[in-house]
Parts: sequence; structure tokens; C-alpha cells
Amino acid sequence: MKVLVTARLPEEVLSRITCDHQVHMHAQDIPMEREKLLEAIGDVDGLLCTLTDRIDRELLGRAPRLKVIANNGVGFDHIDVGEASRRSIPVANTPGVLTDATADLTFALILAAARRVVEGDRMVRAGDFKFWAPLHFLGTEVAGKTLGIIGMGRIGCAVAKRAAGFNMKVVYWGRSRLGDEAEHELKVSFSSLEDLLRESDFVSLHVPLGPKTRHLVGERELSMMKSSAMLINTARGPVVDEKALVAALRSGSIRCAGLDVYENEPELSSGLAELENVVLLPHMGSATIETRTRMADMACDNLLAGLAGKRPPNCLNCGSSGAL
Ligand code: DGY
Repeated sequence: MKVLVTARLPEEVLSRITCDHQVHMHAQDIPMEREKLLEAIGDVDGLLCTLTDRIDRELLGRAPRLKVIANNGVGFDHIDVGEASRRSIPVANTPGVLTDATADLTFALILAAARRVVEGDRMVRAGDFKFWAPLHFLGTEVAGKTLGIIGMGRIGCAVAKRAAGFNMKVVYWGRSRLGDEAEHELKVSFSSLEDLLRESDFVSLHVPLGPKTRHLVGERELSMMKSSAMLINTARGPVVDEKALVAALRSGSIRCAGLDVYENEPELSSGLAELENVVLLPHMGSATIETRTRMADMACDNLLAGLAGKRPPNCLNCGSSGAL
């Protein structure tokens, strides 16, 4: 069968597909152009895509042979899953394998923002490190502070576990509440969104992007945060109103932010890159060799199952019986 792979995969994973199928791989790191994607999808049986490909109604309308969509990633806001279901095409993702890598990067951003790590690096490189002084480059302590986690799924829980090691108090808000036992084990307590925003020293976002979470943090929410608070986003850019965030960082209504994702990725809102009080990363939450290899492998498992007419192990729209 014919398979379209829209971004480079590790060789050992790719060979699991090429041994039985004809593969067209977009063997570059820049995303596949929309026109090329629309053109290539016409005679394809399997699609292994990434978050930079928009898999919408128009594209699915041009894919009469498509039997499976295997996303190389956990977030699927770029895929019209409803339309795929109407066309009986299973859609699968890669949950679980990137939890630790993303939670680690969340903590890297918390520490980088609190301790001004990137500013310090820039200063040393610029040749401006001339002396040590007691009041020089003061940051903020992380231990003993309150971390507010918005979205307590796998990654939110993994962040809470790390926060316990830093002796932080953790409050959370999300669509559903954890059970008493899980709350006890993770040492977290449920809070309203408003209280979380008012009380937290660090607010970290871990919700998927959807109609209910788009601009979940906007001007109103930012204004409720402490002026000493820091906002961390390793989830999806549009969860934050980036224009409002730039204004809040500029006016000092919050202290700083650590961002791995952007509202109009890869573009940044005007003024964001000029601010000193924000750490900016290029959407690299899952970017470890181990995790990216596991993600590709999992996407490959999903793809091969779909091509064989079986339920992909991580199907998002298959239902418990496996039927769409
Ligand atoms: C995902 O999987 O959705 C991440 O954002 C990229 O790894």
C-alpha cells in the first residue's frame, strides 16, 4: 500500500514501513507545503503526519483511499477528527511516551524563568560578567512556592511529582477532579481557576487545545495573577492570548513567562522576542532522542495496524468495539 510520511523518521522506524509498503517521505525538517500535501494525499492509503500538517475537511475530501491517520505526537488539534470519523478513517496519536520529557522541560522553564538562566547566559557571552556582587542577578526561589497546574492529565501529574521534589505546594484546576487517593499521593489540592490564578507563584498550562481552552488565559486571567507570578506554557500556544501576555509582561503585571509554544507558531506576537522577562523555546517539549524515537515507533504501530484493517492501538475515534 502507499504511505505518505510528512516528516523525517528514524531509519529503524522507517524500515518497519518500507519493508511492506511503498513510502513517500517528505525527507526534510521544514514542514510539507500545503499544496504538496494536498497533491500527495490523493492516492495514499496511510498517512503518518505531525502537528505542522493541517488535516482538515479539504484534505480528507481529497483522500479517497485513506485508511488510517497516524499522528507522530499526542496533540491532535490540527486534525479534524470528526470529519475523519464521518469518513470512517481511524485517527491515532502517541499518548504517554512524551509525558516525562514534557514535564522535564516544564521544570526547565520554571527554573530558567525563576533563576534568570537565559539572561545570565546572554550576559556572560556578551562579555559583561565583570564581578560577583551580593545583589547581582537576583532571581526567585522555587522551593516552598505555590505551583498552579491547569490541566491535570498525564503531563500535569508528572509536573506535580517533580514539584514535590522541589518542596512546592501544588494546586490544580482541570476539567475533572482526581480522586482523593491520587490527590493525596501527588500531594495536590483542587482549586477554582480564579483561586489558582490568585494564589500561585507559578502557573503551568497542561490542557489540550480545543474550543473551551482557546485563550483560556487572557487579559482577565493574567490580571488576576500575582505581579510576582510566572506563566509557563508547554501545552499549545493558543491556550494563551499572546497579545495580552506581551502586554502583561511589558507592564509588569506578571513577572515573567517561559514558553515552548506560540499562538501562531512559529511566528511570535509583536514585541514578545524583545522582552527580557520571557524564556522562549522552539516547541521542544518532547525533543529527546528516547522520546522522539518512541513516538515515531508508536505512530508506526498505529499506521501499520490501520493499514492491516486492525484497530490502531491508540485510536482516538474507534470506540470500545473498534468500530468507528
Ligand atoms: C505533541 O506531541 O503534541 C507535542 O506537542 C509535540 O511532541
